[in-house]
Amino acid sequence: MGWDGAPGDILAKHKIAILPGDGVGVEVIEAAMLVLEEIALDAEYIYGDIGWEFWRKEGNPLPDRTIEMLKETDAALFGAITSKPKKEAVNELAPELRDKGLQYFSPIVRLRQEFELYANVRPAKAYKGNPLNYRDDINITVFRENTEGLYAGVEFRPVDAELKKALGRHPKFARFMDVPDDELAISMRIFTKKGCERIIKAAFEHARKFKARNLTVVEKPNVIRETSGMFVETAREMHSEYPEIELWETNIDAQAMWLVKNPEIYDVLVTSNMFGDIISDLASQLTGGLGFATSGNIGENYAVFEPVHGSAPKYAGQYKVNPIATIRATRMLLDYIGEHEKAEKLERAIEIVVEEGKVKTYDMGGDAGTLDMAREIAKKYSEQ
Ligand code: IPM
Ligand code: MN
Repeated sequence: MGWDGAPGDILAKHKIAILPGDGVGVEVIEAAMLVLEEIALDAEYIYGDIGWEFWRKEGNPLPDRTIEMLKETDAALFGAITSKPKKEAVNELAPELRDKGLQYFSPIVRLRQEFELYANVRPAKAYKGNPLNYRDDINITVFRENTEGLYAGVEFRPVDAELKKALGRHPKFARFMDVPDDELAISMRIFTKKGCERIIKAAFEHARKFKARNLTVVEKPNVIRETSGMFVETAREMHSEYPEIELWETNIDAQAMWLVKNPEIYDVLVTSNMFGDIISDLASQLTGGLGFATSGNIGENYAVFEPVHGSAPKYAGQYKVNPIATIRATRMLLDYIGEHEKAEKLERAIEIVVEEGKVKTYDMGGDAGTLDMAREIAKKYSEQ
């Protein structure tokens, strides 16, 4: 729809925000748009400002106007953005912004928290014929809690006397009492019961919908007794509502080992934020690596879909990276907005292209470019 509301404008069925970001983010989004064009989705696409450029120029990589724009849309497709360590980030700011005490905070983490996109859904599926598969029979979906845990952002350095006093109520803090304030750093791992319940419920519901054999709750309650303890207890409590699904409990360290030993036995994993970040990278490396790893950040009212990879500055401008991760994200977005038929067809198109193996990007051992791959998938979509 035109903003001027000119006569003859037809309201599109869906309103999708497109957030390319920077580096290869721009290229993989271009590839996804090429596919969306072929699909002829009845949608209006609204591009939003996000990324390193806006940090440098405005001191905010996720400007308020972008947040407001997202609120007017049904869902977003996000590319990737560059982020740099604290000091480097400040040094790259426009000179007039440098002394303002601005802090760089990851825009994607902010989006997850502000829009309460509590479920980070990361399917690791071995596409038939993918030369990068570790094994061909892997199909695991990782449900990562996406709004709290170690990503809550509640951190202290230095740790002042008042805070020390409060923490001193815990006997185990005694040995840290005399550490100088500026030699102590604390990052809090915060879990809420609600946070545990909603991610575990999402994982169980997914397991039910796709007739999964098992759901594994991956934590470390033998050591991290309170947070992991609450998470695992919650899974046990909720299990009675899903008697047809086997509930397994593992520790995060052992799960890393087992994913290498026998990944084919796992259907759905559910875990907290940081553990999910790590274990989903492991799962994706078993099934094609970053060129394939995709992700949906899903809440009650909004969702942002993105490839797991970053902006890969090294490859930027070369149109070389594999767009399949972003095209899979597009597929997840189609499902989210209720376009199931198109979603299925797109998934099938990806399967056909990978299995045929005629068009392969560099990570797959070929020399096709980002847009070649997208065009091939678009072609297979329409040939069905
Ligand atoms: C991911 C990424 C992000 C995360 C970064 C970019 C903040 O690694 O989506 O897995 O840690 O969640
Ligand atoms: Mn990660």
